[in-house]
Formats: sequence, C-alpha cells, structure tokens
Amino acid sequence: MIHKSITLDSLAESAFRAMKNSYSPHSKFKVGAALLSSKENIYIGTNVEFDAFSLTVCAERSALFNAVSHGERSFTKLAIATNSQKFKFPCGLCRQALIEFSPELEITLFNSNKKSRKIILKELLPEYFKL
Ligand code: THU
Repeated sequence: MIHKSITLDSLAESAFRAMKNSYSPHSKFKVGAALLSSKENIYIGTNVEFDAFSLTVCAERSALFNAVSHGERSFTKLAIATNSQKFKFPCGLCRQALIEFSPELEITLFNSNKKSRKIILKELLPEYFKL
C-alpha cells in the first residue's frame, strides 16, 4: 500500500484555498478548514452565510460534513485559515461536533500572515458531552 503522508504545509494550503471560496457577505470574516482523515484524505470546508443569519455554517463543520459524507469517521489533523491577523479559535459548536469523532485532533490555526499555533482539540473542550 502506498503511504501518502500529507504534510502540514499541504494541509494549510488546502485550508487557504478553501478560505478563498468563503461566502461571508455579512461578516466579511473568511475561514477555510482542511481536515485530514486517519486514511490520509483531505476534506475542505468554508463558512457559508445567509441573509437569515442563523443558517450560517462554519468552515470547520462544513469540512466535517464533507468528510463524513465520504464515509470518514476518524481524523488526525485540522488546519484552519482565516483572513485575520489574530489567531481565531474554532467556535463551541464546531469543537463539540469535531470532538465526538476525534478528541485527539491536532488543530493548527493559521492567521492571515500564515503564522501558526497548535492545539489539541480536547484541551479546548474538556469534560465534553457524550451520550
Ligand atoms: N466562523 C467559522 O467559520 N468558524 C468558527 O469557528 C467561528 C466562526 C464563521 C461563521 C461566520 O460566517 C463568520 O465566521 C463570523 O462568525
């Protein structure tokens, strides 16, 4: 079997590429996410906003839905890119959604200058809900 071994650089590249497709006419805050599955496949997502504001979906869950739709259930890394100079952490909804699949997920946040910061998902949401 060929081992693909996706680098963090290429995961980041996918996140920035997804960010370009952000549909965020209301907030102008662009987010791109690239989720790496345990099978070494990359799934991207971006944030999509609506005039009915509460319909908005974050980039992270968009990537997760894409991955799950392809049959994936386990993830190792997530790269998140934004158009902000500050590091932006994933919202509470996305933390819960992702942690139900992969508590050990390694998240790398990228700011608009491509500087990065790493964190493990379960550090962002200790004592999370599980049925
Ligand atoms: N957003 C994300 O895509 N991910 C997050 O973790 C937080 C917020 C999006 C949703 C909305 O389109 C915009 O950022 C402002 O909230």
